Formats: sequence, structure tokens, C-alpha cells
Amino acid sequence: MKYGFIKNLSINTANGFTTTLCSDELGNKVVIKKYRGSKHDGNYSRLLYESRVGKILSTKSTLAVKFPDIVEVKRKDSEISVVYEYIPGRLLSGFSLDYQAKAILRVINGLTEITKKLSAKDKEFIVRRTFFDFIIGLPIFCLLFLKISPRNFLIVSRAFFDCLVNLPKLYFRDLALAHCDLKPENIIVSRGMIYLLDCELTRLTHRKFDYNKIIASRVNPRLSDLLHKNHQKLSNSTLINYLCLCYGSSRGRETSYTANYLASLNKYNP
Ligand SMILES: Nc1ncnc2c1ncn2[C@@H]1O[C@H](COP(=O)(O)OP(=O)(O)O)[C@@H](O)[C@H]1O
Ligand SMILES: [Mg+2]
Repeated sequence: MKYGFIKNLSINTANGFTTTLCSDELGNKVVIKKYRGSKHDGNYSRLLYESRVGKILSTKSTLAVKFPDIVEVKRKDSEISVVYEYIPGRLLSGFSLDYQAKAILRVINGLTEITKKLSAKDKEFIVRRTFFDFIIGLPIFCLLFLKISPRNFLIVSRAFFDCLVNLPKLYFRDLALAHCDLKPENIIVSRGMIYLLDCELTRLTHRKFDYNKIIASRVNPRLSDLLHKNHQKLSNSTLINYLCLCYGSSRGRETSYTANYLASLNKYNP
């Protein structure tokens, strides 16, 4: 199938993915997410993983949360394109804060429900992030964080000891699907339905992962504060500490990104 270009939707400088709105030969709109680069690149594999997870999840859509269908995946040695069904609607970021919080809760509960519908083969394919991954990563993230920001030694050490003592107490037995990049910019509201995009980081992991990652990341501080206040059973200070250490150090240099996670370390675990 050939597609005609309509407009760019996003150019992601972090991973080199471009997302464009196109139309197929019948005039139907589609969304094409493309990566140009060798098939041995990490980003090529990431987009391939996104397409495979997307195929699994689109067959498991529920009333609570849906996923765009994948029309086709085109692969060459130097390029991969994933063609998605176009979802008309608005990004969740355009809605009121209360609605955003409700929709996020709906997505998280929806993902737990969908986990129950996964076959053994599906589960084998989706990458797991277990308690051992958390514990093994912990000292590495702390050292990286301190290298980026040595003046925050105290707060980082405090978070480290909290994780060391309390991570083993978190219940890691029933792993659930987590999107791992859940934010209003990856959610489309279409005729009252909620669609989840951008599943490249989807994992089977602790079921509170997504909720606390949104709190920790402070991309929208008011949303983080609302989620932290709203559902005390879902927000967990040790997970927030862990996710701050993990993601605050992940770019290897001090950015506004690290500053957000530092603000969370200070704010939610003073
Ligand atoms: N199936 C789709 N239907 C409509 N819009 C989409 C679709 N997929 C992506 N988009 C739009 O493109 C943007 C970027 O897509 P996304 O998959 O989140 O890529 P990125 O990795 O660049 O964040 C989204 O925020 C959304 O506005
Ligand atoms: Mg996105």
C-alpha cells in the first residue's frame, strides 16, 4: 500500500522517530511512525517492539482502554515504518486536570484488567521488570545521579536507603502491564473512548509503576500533586524515590529533566 503525506504530527529528537499523518490509496487517514537507521540500532528495535506489543494490545482493547490498530509494518535494513489506524480526537492534555486524573486512573485499572487477558505467549514476549531488576539498578542509578549532581548527596542517599529497606516490602508477585511512559500526550480521547499510544516501553512490572512515574516525573506539576493527593493506596513514596533515582539519572547529564525528579525527591519525601 502507498501513502500520501498530509502533515507532520511529531518529531521526537530523543529517539529520532517521526510521526506523520498520511492517507492511504482509498483516502483513509493513517498515522505513520518511522525510524530511519540501521536495523542494528536500539531505536530500530524499540519501534519494532512497539509494533509487536501494539499488535498484542490492539486485540485486547476493553471499554476502559483501547489501542489503535496496526495496519502494517514496513521493514527495510535501514528503515522501519509502523502504520497505525488514525484516531480522531483530542489529546488528554487538552482536558481539565480533574478529567486527566480520572482518565489516568481508568487507564491504569484498564491495564490491570488487560493483563488478565494476556496469553502465556503474550506474557513471554513482553519484557519484564521484576524486583531483581529494580534492586540491581538501584546502586547504579544512585552513582549516576551523584555524578550528575554531587551537591545533592544527602537527598540521593536518603532515597537510596529508603529503597534498600522498603523495596523488598513491595508486592512484586502479580506483575501487571505498565505503559512506562504514561502521560496525557500519549492518550487520545475519542468519542468518550480512551486510546493509548506509544507503547514502546510497555513492560510487565509492579502494578503501581505508571501512577508513581507520573507523580515522580512532574511533567505537569499540578497533575502530579493531584495524583499524589488523590489515591493514597496507589501513590507509594518508595516507588517515587526509586523512579526519581532511575529516571533522573538516565540521561547522564543535568537537564530540566533531572531537576524535575529532584523536585519530586524533595517534595514527596521531605
Ligand atoms: N493513531 C494515532 N491517531 C492519531 N494521532 C496519533 C496517533 N498516533 C500518534 N498520534 C499523534 O502523534 C503524536 C506522537 O505520537 P507518539 O506515538 O506518541 O510518538 P512519540 O514517540 O514521538 O511521542 C501523539 O502525541 C499524537 O498527537
Ligand atoms: Mg508520545
